[in-house]
Amino acid sequence: MASKITAPKGTKDILPEEIYLWEKVENTAKKVCERYQYKQIRTPEFENVSLFQRGIGDTTDVVQKEMYTFSRNQKEIFALKPEGTAGVVRAFNEHSMLSRPLPIKLFYLTSCYRCENPQKGRQRQFHQFGIEVLGSKSPITDAEVIGLGFDFIREIGIRNITLKINSVGCSNCRNAYYTKLRTFLEPHVEELCDVCKSRLEKNPMRVLDCKNEKCQQITKDAPLMVEHLCEDCKSHYGSVKAYLTIAGIPFQEDPTIVRGLDYYTNTAFEFISSDLGAQSALGGGGRYNQLVEMVGGSDVPGIGFAMGLERLLLILKEQGITEEKIDTVDIYIAPLGEPAHAKAFKDVQALRQMGFLAEMDCMQRSLKGQMKYANKLNARYVAILGEEELEKEKYLLRDMQTKAQQEIDFDSLVNLIKSNGGLE
Ligand code: HAM
Repeated sequence: MASKITAPKGTKDILPEEIYLWEKVENTAKKVCERYQYKQIRTPEFENVSLFQRGIGDTTDVVQKEMYTFSRNQKEIFALKPEGTAGVVRAFNEHSMLSRPLPIKLFYLTSCYRCENPQKGRQRQFHQFGIEVLGSKSPITDAEVIGLGFDFIREIGIRNITLKINSVGCSNCRNAYYTKLRTFLEPHVEELCDVCKSRLEKNPMRVLDCKNEKCQQITKDAPLMVEHLCEDCKSHYGSVKAYLTIAGIPFQEDPTIVRGLDYYTNTAFEFISSDLGAQSALGGGGRYNQLVEMVGGSDVPGIGFAMGLERLLLILKEQGITEEKIDTVDIYIAPLGEPAHAKAFKDVQALRQMGFLAEMDCMQRSLKGQMKYANKLNARYVAILGEEELEKEKYLLRDMQTKAQQEIDFDSLVNLIKSNGGLE
């Protein structure tokens, strides 16, 4: 026997019995987005690698270590999308959406790819539900985006999610803050991990986000961005908090939230779950007022979030929320013998084209075997087609609920299924 080929590390099959829960999550996302007037967008699975290098930032883990890149001719290098935002922003620019009535409100359900070490809630191919708003810098939009996330979480039925928010400022206040932070970190440079050392120059705020114990110890008393916001950023952050409070959306301020991608400005937030273990972020997002320009567009503000669907499903399972569907078929045709199979196939196709859920034998099972299989399928009726019935151009129809049987021609059979009437 040839050796068994397995799925690549960090990927997972989603089997038919798991699909109902996936569909419930996806349909809820679509329903909530429709209420808020967000339209679906689908962008390619791969993009020019420079989109992510420029957009997400070349000092981030995602770009430095986790992208799946490939090239066919060494001239163009592509990358599988590690997240949804950059592609959406590229599409916004490419299709001149700025000339449409603003704001542009979009959502997506997409696969993403990051070459990370797999663990609970962390895969190499995973799925995101995300939303992006382009063209509004109003704090109402920040609160709306967070509010949509909250409504989605509530509607799907999961509990114990904490919303943590912070402001990471703008390029103006950040420069002054970076100088202060670098001065604070300078005496400890040699003790920082190698990754943090390399971040010090371009993005020292990420040092605050490091999971290394020593780095965490060093940054315990570090100056915080939120305490160094310029007047505009301070006022924006204050308004976002006020709008969240008005809408009754509970939040916790967490000045250590800096997010793992470089494009964020102002509001940054995360939805945290205690049911996820180490990978506790169900979702996260924030403002990105410079991203559109960074990838070649105009000066257009943006904000959004993305949630990991695998993590969402883990929480649903942990909290005992399931979605089961009992499959049924309207009719199962049980032919016996070769000529009966031909007639059965003609009729089963006709029934399917009429819109019925119809099935027939293709395993040459005995009548007993077919009845057993029809039972498994939860068939409402079984239409038996033996030699005798074939000759009479009739079916022997069995009502699987009442167990009554009756000879019936095809047209009457159709009418009976249509009315879902029972045989006495
Ligand atoms: P992110 O925080 O990198 O943000 O990812 C968002 C969510 O995707 C995470 O909270 C997590 O649930 C899920 N996720 C990330 N990596 C993995 C993984 N390896 N395995 C399973 N799930 C994962 C973004 O991607 C931003 N684009 C969000 C955003 C939209 N910001 C503004 N707009």
